[in-house]
Amino acid sequence: MQRLAIDGGAPVRSRPFPTINDALGRHVGAEELALLTEVIHSGQLNRNSGTKVAALERAWAEAFGVGRAVASTSGTAAIHAALGALPLNPGDEVITTPITDWGTIGPILAQGCVPIFADVDPVTYCLDPEQVERRVTSRTRAIVAVHLLGHPADMDALTAITRRHDLFLVEDCAQAMLARWGGRLVGTMGDLGCFSLQQSKVITTGDGGMTIANDEQLAARAALFADKGWSRAMRQEGRREHRTFGLNYRMTELQGAVGLAQLSKAPAFVANRQRVAKLVTERLHDAPGIIAPSVAPGADPVYWFYLVTLDPAELTVDQPQFMRALRAEGIPAGPVHGGDALYLQEMFQRKQVFGTSHYPFDYAGRSVDDVDYSRGLCPVAEELTDPSRSRSFLLPCNEGITEEDAVEMADAVRKVAEHYAR
Ligand SMILES: Cc1ncc(COP(=O)(O)O)c(C=O)c1O
Repeated sequence: MQRLAIDGGAPVRSRPFPTINDALGRHVGAEELALLTEVIHSGQLNRNSGTKVAALERAWAEAFGVGRAVASTSGTAAIHAALGALPLNPGDEVITTPITDWGTIGPILAQGCVPIFADVDPVTYCLDPEQVERRVTSRTRAIVAVHLLGHPADMDALTAITRRHDLFLVEDCAQAMLARWGGRLVGTMGDLGCFSLQQSKVITTGDGGMTIANDEQLAARAALFADKGWSRAMRQEGRREHRTFGLNYRMTELQGAVGLAQLSKAPAFVANRQRVAKLVTERLHDAPGIIAPSVAPGADPVYWFYLVTLDPAELTVDQPQFMRALRAEGIPAGPVHGGDALYLQEMFQRKQVFGTSHYPFDYAGRSVDDVDYSRGLCPVAEELTDPSRSRSFLLPCNEGITEEDAVEMADAVRKVAEHYAR
């Protein structure tokens, strides 16, 4: 058996591995630069005088086959614009997952609503629809479903729940651009779909966001929300008309230029992610204790990262040690969700968002103790985020990974698995 690099052996990989944080893993180049140069030469860096963000919105809406797309500064802003477009009242409950980025839940709180956490499925780590339905109360108004790690949430079941209980459905597609459920693109099945163009996402503008909707009124409200509630209809006359509450979440023309070039590359990026995932899965099919990412029937994932699950019955090591050994082999492995499940984080434990108040947790006839953020609330999520119990971790998956890289990554996983096999 080969000696592990962590024990002083030769690593499987000694060259840098392509990641989403460097030029090896991110294909940003001449196409982006050409459009960016146009913007610089035009002198129009703001979307309200330029053309690139508007062009990106049109191209995005067309690519997704929806009525309208609204660009913004981040995935967080895209979700905030989506929630701002909905008729939510302070104190309303919005059900979501505790395994997600803060950008999913910050906007819920910013709208004065109460995030209610439902547990995730133990295989895909997306929202478990059964757990979601158990959390529905008379105060529930919406669900924010996250398509985690590029795998779509169960949209049939979630859509059925929203119909049964008359709820809005917002899809958080930050990690899953171009993933499909039952052949349909994620983001097009709920009332609104939200995307992030942050550095690590399927395509990137550094930071950036997009909200899509078929309903023209919802889309128009999202657009107003992202632009100070300012209708530009009277712009020629120089009149300011603020129709609704809004913030400045405007994407710049610089981001719009990069986004346009990136959008045209998205199908190729996704194809490479899927190719890499297939190859790694094939090479690891008989590696001891290694469970490949599961694909739910009807799902067509885009593998934001490649999810590895360890079978403790077949391995003598835990997840942190496996990841350490893999990193020593030159493969950048990381946890699925660094840190505790979101409701266990300090802010939720204190239930303080606005100053020293407990708003919105004590609002609209509710007492602050009525909202449950205690340990034990979502056992699957808690196990996943506890390094001593978690069985899963992530491997890189991006447009820059070649077949050779994928083979080396799989070989490194196999080497570590065989070393620690029971
Ligand atoms: C699932 C999910 N939702 C929302 C966000 C927020 O996106 P951004 O970082 O662009 O604000 C992210 C990004 O990390 C994410 O992964």
